[in-house]
Amino acid sequence: KTQNDLSGKNILITAGPTYERIDPVRFIGNFSTGKMGYAIADECARRGASVTLVSGPVAIVPTEPSVSVVRVESAQQMLDACLKVFPEADTAIMCAAVADYTVANPATTKIKREGCEPPAITLKKNPDIAQTLGKAKQSWQKVIGFALETDNEEENARKKLANKNLDMIVMNSLRDAGAGFGTDTNRVTIYTAAGATLPFGTKSKAGVASDIVNTILSL
Ligand code: C5P
Repeated sequence: KTQNDLSGKNILITAGPTYERIDPVRFIGNFSTGKMGYAIADECARRGASVTLVSGPVAIVPTEPSVSVVRVESAQQMLDACLKVFPEADTAIMCAAVADYTVANPATTKIKREGCEPPAITLKKNPDIAQTLGKAKQSWQKVIGFALETDNEEENARKKLANKNLDMIVMNSLRDAGAGFGTDTNRVTIYTAAGATLPFGTKSKAGVASDIVNTILSL
């Protein structure tokens, strides 16, 4: 199926985890594999968009050769990369699992074990990339977020939609089998800023990506 319904659109997508350095050989990270974000990038590229994928460290690459990948490590680097691209972006889709906190004072040499007490790691807040773009967006731009929830799904997702000034949020619940980190399938409910609730069935991540893009086009 070839569609060109995103022809002429610039789309910014974040994907994957962020790594926050503790010292030159260690980091704080998470289990995000990037699969959902990469599937959305491929879907948008197949439909004719010009796609910039700002990706944390993952083991995968896009299928579509036209996707432009900007590889970053930390949340701060991800924000910096997004801020460069966002002014031209019609839509920003924030799929990355960004670390909430980073290390306040990462060591510049490897932390040694011998004879030392376990080191204390002091954390500080990371920037919220989705919120930064949501608050900066112009009337012609859309910012889409994700919410991975374990409980009070709708309430939590709608709070994030409002706090980050998003146009819609894609919620997946860890209570659903076949949803969440590392799986090849996903099951989502989309909440829109206009108040709609759109539940979808369990599908391949490519199928979910298609539903997400169709919903963005309907906003
Ligand atoms: O608040 P929470 O982390 O649950 O929000 C998830 C949404 O916000 C996702 O779209 C995620 O990519 C985005 N996010 C972000 N920067 C952060 C934290 C979350 O872009 N520092």
